Amino acid sequence: MNANLPFAAIAALITFNLSNARAEDPAVSPSASKLVIRADQGKITINKNIYGQFSEHLGRCIYGGIWVGEKSSIPNTRGVRNDVVAALKRMKVPVLRWPGGCFADEYHWKDGIGPREQRPKMINTHWGGVTEDNSFGTHEFMDFCEQIGADPYVCGNVGSGSVQEMMEWVEYMTSDADSPMANLRRKNGRDKPWRLPWFGVGNESWGCGGNMTPEYYADQYRRYNTFVKNYDRSNAVQRIACGANNNDTNWTSVLMKNVGRRMNGLSLHYYTVPTGNWQRKGSATQFAEADWFNTLRRGLEMENLVSRHAAIMDQADPQQRVGMMVDEWGTWYDVEPGTNPGFLYQQNTLRDALIAGCTLNIFNNHADRVKMANIAQMVNVLQAMILTDHEKMLLTPTYHVFEMFAVHQDATLLPTDLESVDYTSGSNKIPALNASASRDKAGKIHVTLCNLNPNAPAEVVCEIPGGKAQKLSGRVLTAAAINSLNSFHKPDTVKPAAFSAFKTVEGGFTTTLPAKSVVVLEVE
Ligand code: AHR
Repeated sequence: MNANLPFAAIAALITFNLSNARAEDPAVSPSASKLVIRADQGKITINKNIYGQFSEHLGRCIYGGIWVGEKSSIPNTRGVRNDVVAALKRMKVPVLRWPGGCFADEYHWKDGIGPREQRPKMINTHWGGVTEDNSFGTHEFMDFCEQIGADPYVCGNVGSGSVQEMMEWVEYMTSDADSPMANLRRKNGRDKPWRLPWFGVGNESWGCGGNMTPEYYADQYRRYNTFVKNYDRSNAVQRIACGANNNDTNWTSVLMKNVGRRMNGLSLHYYTVPTGNWQRKGSATQFAEADWFNTLRRGLEMENLVSRHAAIMDQADPQQRVGMMVDEWGTWYDVEPGTNPGFLYQQNTLRDALIAGCTLNIFNNHADRVKMANIAQMVNVLQAMILTDHEKMLLTPTYHVFEMFAVHQDATLLPTDLESVDYTSGSNKIPALNASASRDKAGKIHVTLCNLNPNAPAEVVCEIPGGKAQKLSGRVLTAAAINSLNSFHKPDTVKPAAFSAFKTVEGGFTTTLPAKSVVVLEVE
């Protein structure tokens, strides 16, 4: 039974037409999992920003992955790779966080403006100690956001910056006045301000961002935030405070109490490390079923984390004005053999696709509180959407999940009750299935389902009170092995395919999910 989802009256409900469906159809097993989609109860919008991304000056995320420079032989538009832009547009990226991460708290934005050849260099102390030449700065980032159609979410420097530096950056980006920073922006080639809906006041201030206590950071936030001005009411900046690491609920309590509504969002960071041991995290590609299970079990921890932090936020903010922004999440493995340990380059398998599917289902189901999430990271770093090798590019299994789930963006969440069969490994078990559902503006219902069990397909009997299921279509992402991946030689090993293992019945439908799969169904 899925402990994370209420399942009170389902047993009674499921007996109606669907039990008839079973009676009529001996192919439906009595051990099928049961899903109720409450099509008559949708109230909350799934904020499209849950499908957000994160790009840091780390390894080959920016340099090589996004930015190749105007003189590159790799086709580009003003220095940004055309292949990457086209793929990201198809995936519908709503919001992009930048420049870090830990890098944000040592980044001085004025080093990243003006003629590129004159920009000062710096050492990227967190990520490999490499020289950062600042050729990708504010203008290049904003241009990239405009090219892919994403809103910018800029993270300011609290750890090693100053209040004045942060204040001037916001003025530079958003003011249309005859003012020093707006005029500097104009001198650098951009007349009109950019839209800046999201601004982060520091990153991981409990760690790489300054090793602060929550009380100290809350005071710092209040001071810095005072000078993050809105220069134009139609371009108001929503402020995001640095939130907790994992299960540090005390950080959330203190921030809610001492900062409260001075912030629009409070972040949360959680990474899935297969072993739970940061010294030996485990391989991204060479793993056994026990590692698959443990990774998924740890990934599902996101449900408990979101619930626990949300409960604290609900107490202080019952009207839910402060959004939970899970602005770093994803899998974190040992780096690919032979690559720079500071670059966090890892491959991406079907296991990552399942982690992405489960996590996005969790966020959807918590759409009342979770208003943004940013997977780490967009290209060539951690659980990436895209990997590049010079002129080559591939889409990872995680990319395909984001593309399949894009139907939920800004749709109305439909509450679901799921009674799932278990997936057992040794003496441990987790629910084999998870799901979320929404209704889009055209009235179509979309259901996303994950079957975590790599050994058995899963039958699901679905009831839709308040809705109909006259016509179904679907897509599935699965592969031959738990560690199947897309390589530069075989970039299409893991990719979505048409799915038709479903049947409409009165009041709903039945479906059989393949082992180790992510499925999206469209119900009309
Ligand atoms: O995403 C990689 C790093 O993880 C980020 O820079 C930091 O915020 C987190 O610890």
